[in-house]
Amino acid sequence: MANTVLIGAQWGDEGKGKIIDLLTEDHDWIIRYQGGHNAGHTVEIGDQRYVLHLLPSGILHEGKKCIIGHGVVIDILSLLSEMDEVVGRGLTVEGRLFVSDRAHLIFPYHRLLDENREFTAATKDKIGTTKRGIGPAYADKSSRTGLRAGDLLEADFPDRLRRRIQDYNRQLEILGADIADEDELVRQYTEAARRLKPYIADTISLLNKAADSGESILFEGAQGTMLDIDYGTYPFVTSSSATAGGACTGGGLAPRRVDRVLGVIKAYATRVGEGPFPTELDNSEGAALRNAGNEYGATTGRPRRCGWFDNVVARYSAMVNGVDAWALTKLDVLDEVDIIKICVGYKYEGKTFDVVPARVRILEKCTPVYESFEGWKTPTSGVTSYGDLPERAKAYIERLEALTGVPVAMISVGPGREHSLVREEVATADHGRAS
Ligand code: GDP
Ligand code: IMO
Ligand code: MG
Repeated sequence: MANTVLIGAQWGDEGKGKIIDLLTEDHDWIIRYQGGHNAGHTVEIGDQRYVLHLLPSGILHEGKKCIIGHGVVIDILSLLSEMDEVVGRGLTVEGRLFVSDRAHLIFPYHRLLDENREFTAATKDKIGTTKRGIGPAYADKSSRTGLRAGDLLEADFPDRLRRRIQDYNRQLEILGADIADEDELVRQYTEAARRLKPYIADTISLLNKAADSGESILFEGAQGTMLDIDYGTYPFVTSSSATAGGACTGGGLAPRRVDRVLGVIKAYATRVGEGPFPTELDNSEGAALRNAGNEYGATTGRPRRCGWFDNVVARYSAMVNGVDAWALTKLDVLDEVDIIKICVGYKYEGKTFDVVPARVRILEKCTPVYESFEGWKTPTSGVTSYGDLPERAKAYIERLEALTGVPVAMISVGPGREHSLVREEVATADHGRAS
């Protein structure tokens, strides 16, 4: 099977976890390449529900190997508790999980800085982060002051951590924020380092050797294109490269070895946290979508903002990620909707256009131009083949394909594995790249 990059094409929570779980069968390795435990990827298998934050979703398939790549920022306490949880549920991690020695680490001072910034920022400057310390940890990486997983293997790790804590505590004190307990943290992290050591590896060599020997790799994107540090609605973004290019910079495989890019789109749109969201329905229609789709954050439990599918965003995502095919999720959530809308352009100061503006001050004033569709008003969750979907649902999907210029290869009509329709002719098409 081909080396596949899977990305979220909207604002995250598109249902990536569920699609990764389906694709895992066809791949040997599953790798997270950016983000951290800000992600929450839900996989439902029978009556079991897993929410994965740092572990690649492939961990749920015994026999598959998983990597946390160097582009990820890791809170090792959080990782260890996630590992304990899956082991407690009968899975193996030993020998199956490899953590990049180049991956940067998140420490409690990063979280305290993140919380403090969110708490003290003026209302319109709040990002609505997950308060996991993601931004400050990536800032340390770029400032070349971060500690990496490989540093956990060094004898001087406790001393280096202590010096960092002292520096950060001085900053936190000036900000009037809580400070970290130096001795307790050094003790906790030295112990955590000891537990994590067997998993730390040179994952770049590992991955490339695997690819050389014909094994296939699935890159599990976190967040989504509109949250990407470069392509997203800056500054209301996360701090990593959540787009397809990030798979190479944060995973370690060269671009020419990626065979296909699969984009995950939800049949409507959601956003959690602050920032512009042109198709947001801040009304009873939005609340109905939230209820039907159970749109509450898998990491923070926050209610997600809901709105109509935004084709301006989808086309932009298709372009910047080079999406070969879509996996369309949560179609069933629209089953009861009378009139469904798709945003096909934005209006701003009397002009209509169909590209995402770089400036959030413009984007937040854009009003959507909609196309409307009669809803199908028929349950779709029990449907098992594309041909059996209601005609109006097929019309909606085919319109999405025409508008985005990208075919829909997979359709999800419920959270479980069984609620999935694969259009083989699209899914197995050679997109002109696989050799
Ligand atoms: P991710 O971050 O992209 O992996 O997505 P999340 O796990 O944060 O959110 C997606 C939610 O929708 C999860 O609760 C999934 O179980 C659920 N889900 C995924 N696909 C479908 C679908 O087709 N229909 C319904 N009703 N729920 C789905
Ligand atoms: P998955 O992988 C949705 C959002 C936060 C906030 C912004 C910055 O489950 O799709 P951060 O803590 O990263 O500094 O927050 O990004 N955010 C997500 N939104 N899904 C996610 O991950 C997200 N990870 C971060 O809500 O708006
Ligand atoms: Mg999520």
